[in-house]
Amino acid sequence: MQAFVLRSISPLEYGIEDIPQPPLADGYARVRLHAAALNHRDVWITKGQYAKIELPVVLGSDGVGEIVEVNSETDGLTVGTYVLLNPNINWGGDERTQSKSYSILGMPQQGTLAEYISVPLNRIHRVPSHLSSEQAAALPLAGLTAYRAVFTQGHCSNADTVLITGIGGGVALAALHFAVQSGARVYVTSSSEDKINRAVELGASGGFLYTDSEWTKQALSHTGGFDLCIDGAGGATMNQLLNVVNPGGRIVSYGATHGIVPDFDIRKVFWKQITLQGTTMGSDNDFASMLRYVGQHHIVPVIDSVIPFAETQRAFERMNGMAQFGKIVVSLR
Ligand SMILES: NC(=O)c1ccc[n+]([C@@H]2O[C@H](COP(=O)([O-])OP(=O)(O)OC[C@H]3O[C@@H](n4cnc5c(N)ncnc54)[C@H](OP(=O)(O)O)[C@@H]3O)[C@@H](O)[C@H]2O)c1
Repeated sequence: MQAFVLRSISPLEYGIEDIPQPPLADGYARVRLHAAALNHRDVWITKGQYAKIELPVVLGSDGVGEIVEVNSETDGLTVGTYVLLNPNINWGGDERTQSKSYSILGMPQQGTLAEYISVPLNRIHRVPSHLSSEQAAALPLAGLTAYRAVFTQGHCSNADTVLITGIGGGVALAALHFAVQSGARVYVTSSSEDKINRAVELGASGGFLYTDSEWTKQALSHTGGFDLCIDGAGGATMNQLLNVVNPGGRIVSYGATHGIVPDFDIRKVFWKQITLQGTTMGSDNDFASMLRYVGQHHIVPVIDSVIPFAETQRAFERMNGMAQFGKIVVSLR
């Protein structure tokens, strides 16, 4: 089968090659992938900026396709069923955090940037009926991370004024859908006026350019402050969030695109009685709840672009350049 293989990081060597189809173990199904999607994780791995990198590897944590072979039947998952994959491997039994043996589909296990993948039946869910393959492929990792950040960890409600940072990102846009749907008043930050305008079209009440050194002042005068901040930027942004979050408010951190936090001002955390909550991916229960929520409310993930499998390298370059608004999907059809 054809797969997009990362062979070396320095120098960077990745591309499509022929590799053997993965074996089909007991309790597994073979899925012919129709669409995959990129996450920033894939880009971090190509840069060597990720823990425990094992090469060579077929990257990709998001996948949608059709079962083509199954050696035991569970819950009607038969050949021809149209499915979406849960990227969690071994979350474990504690809803609060993942187990020590936790991993994410797409390293060390073979990922979804390939024609076929072999996955345990308990990683397989039916595709929400209102979504196309490309839309559904945009959902798993970003949707799961955003759902847990907004609801499980952030306890978002219609009483909240919420700030979501870096709205061009896949997780940030999924968080926007969820927070808006919950009835909260939602604001965003971005490097681009155009992306803020597009977020407003999706239900945001407004936004601020994080590239403007005065954005925290503008945000405070415009909104009065935020009860909940959902952040994937980290870096200097975290100290800015300590200024714009309301006393008693919550900051949920899911990423550090902007790096580690310089001169973290701990005094604001205790004086303002702020809850700083980390979050990563989500449990299998979060995943099932996220799919139910998306189905009930007919949420459609925002797709930046659909790129043919033969041009997967271009998908990586686009994500690296941060020009995207939403998910970069790779079509394998
Ligand atoms: N913990 C987890 O389970 C988990 C899961 C998924 C992702 N992550 C992490 O979360 C981050 C986002 O992931 P993603 O896949 O959604 O990435 P993505 O789609 O590549 O989005 C990245 C976005 O980050 C924003 N950004 C960059 N610098 C920023 C800054 N200084 N302040 C605010 N926003 C900034 C940009 O927003 P604009 O374009 O609007 O400027 C950009 O579009 C990555 O660091 C990723 O590793 C963590």
